[in-house]
Amino acid sequence: MAFIPQNVIDEVIARNSIESVVGDYVRLERKGGQNLFGLCPFHGEKTPSFSVNTNKQFFYCFGCHAGGNVIKFIQMIENLNFPDAVAFLAKRVGIELDLEDEPEARKKQLEYKQMQACLLDAARFFYHSYKSPQGRAAEDYMQVKRRLSPAILTTFGVGYAPDSWDALSSSLLKTYPEKILLDLGLMRKSSRGKAYDFFRDRVMFPVFDHLGRLRAFGGRIMGQGEAKYINSPDSRIYNKGKYLYALNFARKDSRDFLILTEGYIDTIALHEAGFTNAVAGLGTALTPSQARLLAQYSNQVILAYDADGAGRNAALKALDLLTREGVDCRILVMPNGQDPDEFIHENGRERFQGLLNQALPALDYQIYLAKQAAATSMGSLDILAYQEQVTDLLAQEASPVVRELYADRLAKEISISPASILQVIEKKRVKEAGPSPKAVPSQERSPVSAQLEFDQASLTYLNALIEDNSLLMRPELRAEAEDFPVSMRDIMAQALALGHKGKLTMPDFLSLLDQAGAGEKLSASILPYFSRLTKAKLRAREDYALEALRLLRLDRLNEQREEALQHIAAASDATSKQEALNQLNNLNLAMSKLRNEVQDDQQKNG
Ligand code: CTP
Ligand code: MN
Repeated sequence: MAFIPQNVIDEVIARNSIESVVGDYVRLERKGGQNLFGLCPFHGEKTPSFSVNTNKQFFYCFGCHAGGNVIKFIQMIENLNFPDAVAFLAKRVGIELDLEDEPEARKKQLEYKQMQACLLDAARFFYHSYKSPQGRAAEDYMQVKRRLSPAILTTFGVGYAPDSWDALSSSLLKTYPEKILLDLGLMRKSSRGKAYDFFRDRVMFPVFDHLGRLRAFGGRIMGQGEAKYINSPDSRIYNKGKYLYALNFARKDSRDFLILTEGYIDTIALHEAGFTNAVAGLGTALTPSQARLLAQYSNQVILAYDADGAGRNAALKALDLLTREGVDCRILVMPNGQDPDEFIHENGRERFQGLLNQALPALDYQIYLAKQAAATSMGSLDILAYQEQVTDLLAQEASPVVRELYADRLAKEISISPASILQVIEKKRVKEAGPSPKAVPSQERSPVSAQLEFDQASLTYLNALIEDNSLLMRPELRAEAEDFPVSMRDIMAQALALGHKGKLTMPDFLSLLDQAGAGEKLSASILPYFSRLTKAKLRAREDYALEALRLLRLDRLNEQREEALQHIAAASDATSKQEALNQLNNLNLAMSKLRNEVQDDQQKNG
């Protein structure tokens, strides 16, 4: 359900009035006019600073600056992503979100429901076998050897698949057709066509999606041996690269970060110890979709991978994917060879909290690995190898401040002057930059880069425009998408198109941001600015729009000027140099004209 047509979204918004939706969670009181007030559900407070504007259909908290339209509210309070929040609200008012051909969709829907029911029945079957006498060995394994409590195992629905070729299927076939069992991978057929249960004599871990719907199983043997885990195959209702284990619980945790582990059991052990913000991948290296899913729920992730070679490599890969999604990652470092499950059972939750507090930022982690790699067999440090590796890492670092900071630290560590280390780094940078700058790999990026930033002038213009769409009817006040910084252009093109139809409101704009994946941070930083502006500057909105538009155009001209300067420097022959110089001249003229206009206006308005 990734794509929902705009008209459906509009209807969902229209049928769910913000006051009634918010009213399901917050006691609201009218304080005159269009504003209702209540205690903010997003931060603790004793006097109401949470407001709902019934006319504009948005909410805003003057305390914590949370704000947005009705979909945003559900996203925040139910911790759902955009499409799921739309689905939630659609369901609330009985809108069918069926987006495909009627009969086809119906058939699929039916089959889908049947698959889900079948999975649930399988989970019940496994659960009962676990509790029955035949599940004694499984119980012993999970509760004694793995030291997990019955309560947490029940929470996670852990069960047992009996040691039998057909116990499960003969029970399920009473209700479901063979095809469903085969599709779900619960039953298989041998090459000679004989059917048998896929999961046998294993501890069973149900896999739920982020909304708590059952999708698959993982099964572990009890003890050492081959095929430690087997998992449900991908099917119409499961794709192991798309879900995260325990996200249905973790999304409700109030901490502002998630812990990503490698395994089912690590995650359960962390939940038992109170870290209910832990999730795990599902038997593959972290995929781009999983990284995106994580990014939807938190912009901070701590990687708690196993402290072995495989875990280290997996952590580096996950780090890369998550960083690309704009997630701030830290890596938890455990004593050699352990995994979170062992660590927490041997050292307790306080020590694990200690490890979380000390989790390393990406660069520090890579330096830590470099140091390990540069350890000699005698246990001393190979300083040259270490320096080589760290300066390689720092040469890739974009920020000069960060480079200098870490160069300083390395200098102290290996007693070499910071200046000579910086020199090595700069040399490596020149070499790496080469003739053409390295393109950033960008497959599977979200549509809008995480760097989307709004400058003051853009915000001022937008604010005036949202207050009064008719500004666009006046040529001197009419902005084009190209007037805005490059990262904003897509969104602004859509916003302006709405404005031309007289349909750009604040909630619309916020939902544009959301659909572009620009996220909470941005809305949070924009809203307080808007609310300040609307009160103080409402009357003079046209003047402000004009000034903002000129400043925007000055910025764009300035960017072109920078380019022209580069062209001049790079020009190989006299003609192209002359062209670039002319260009620069024109730009300078245009800029000084604009600057004069801005100054005149400022004098006029005193
Ligand atoms: N996994 C899998 N198939 C395997 C091995 C592992 O699907 N043959 C997946 C499982 O989801 C498992 C995760 O990879 O939870 C991590 O594997 P591992 O670290 O080996 O297992 P743990 O969860 O630590 O399990 P245990 O502690 O029981 O060994
Ligand atoms: Mn383990």
